[in-house]
Amino acid sequence: MNSFLDIHKTDPAALRSMIDTAHAMKIARNGRPKGMPDDDQPLAGRMVALIFEKPSTRTRVSFDLGVRQMGGQTMVLSGKEMQLGHGETIADTARVLSRYVDLIMIRTFEEATLLEMAEYASVPVINGLTNRTHPCQIMADVMTYEEHRGPIAGRKVVWCGDGNNVCASFLHAAGQFGFDFTFTGPETLDPEPGFVGFAREKGRSVRIERDPVAAVTGADLVVTDTWVSMHDPESAKERRHNQLRPYQVNEALMAHAKPDALFMHCLPAHRNDEATSAVMDGPHSVIFDEAENRLHAQKAVMRWCLGV
Ligand code: CP
Repeated sequence: MNSFLDIHKTDPAALRSMIDTAHAMKIARNGRPKGMPDDDQPLAGRMVALIFEKPSTRTRVSFDLGVRQMGGQTMVLSGKEMQLGHGETIADTARVLSRYVDLIMIRTFEEATLLEMAEYASVPVINGLTNRTHPCQIMADVMTYEEHRGPIAGRKVVWCGDGNNVCASFLHAAGQFGFDFTFTGPETLDPEPGFVGFAREKGRSVRIERDPVAAVTGADLVVTDTWVSMHDPESAKERRHNQLRPYQVNEALMAHAKPDALFMHCLPAHRNDEATSAVMDGPHSVIFDEAENRLHAQKAVMRWCLGV
């Protein structure tokens, strides 16, 4: 039984195998209708609980669809509507759910909630996002890069803006998949040293660069995300916008990346804040492939978790 809690906690060979499986499963579907099952049904007879303590469009729909395509069934649960939201412990919830379902995916606030769920569950647990990391997103992003440009190993990835949970998982991926990473943003929003340290310990170059033009020069991939995350207070909005405006990804900034550079954003986006519509809808952008690849990458993650 394997839980998928974070990229840095998962063996690099397993990560590579999941990405390769995701590519193969996407190709095998060969454009068939979304609701049509896959030829093989590795999740036949399996029940998957999808728990959301925060809003979601992509994670919710792609996990639900992915389970159905692989022959399984889902229960989508809102944390607020469960006893979890009314004082029942995470540990008890984990033990109870393990009697009903074969796999648990949880999107929650505190990393401690995810870890407690995994500790007490007797079925695999998948991290569908916490305040600290978003590993499923980055599996889809690695898959998307490689689908368009081949191996991501040795490439230069530049993150513009807030060193948030998605940025953290990109740093984990830099270490595990072997690419170099540059962060450009204000000092107050730097990624935590532990995330940077992980990639460096794995031998990757991690650069913190305040000048966005210097950072993006020569990039193979430019990535950004919303300036105010789901767990940030609304009161932080104006200050963050002022701090992050110089790091907006626009056509002038993208012009400093390599001519064949890709642009990614995990979505949802605030168009013309962190990235302009000209970039999001422009020739470098692969944002909707990224969103689609959540489905394929997570199907591979679920297969790995269940060993099927
Ligand atoms: N990127 C992402 O996780 O999207 P949702 O919040 O819509 O799931």
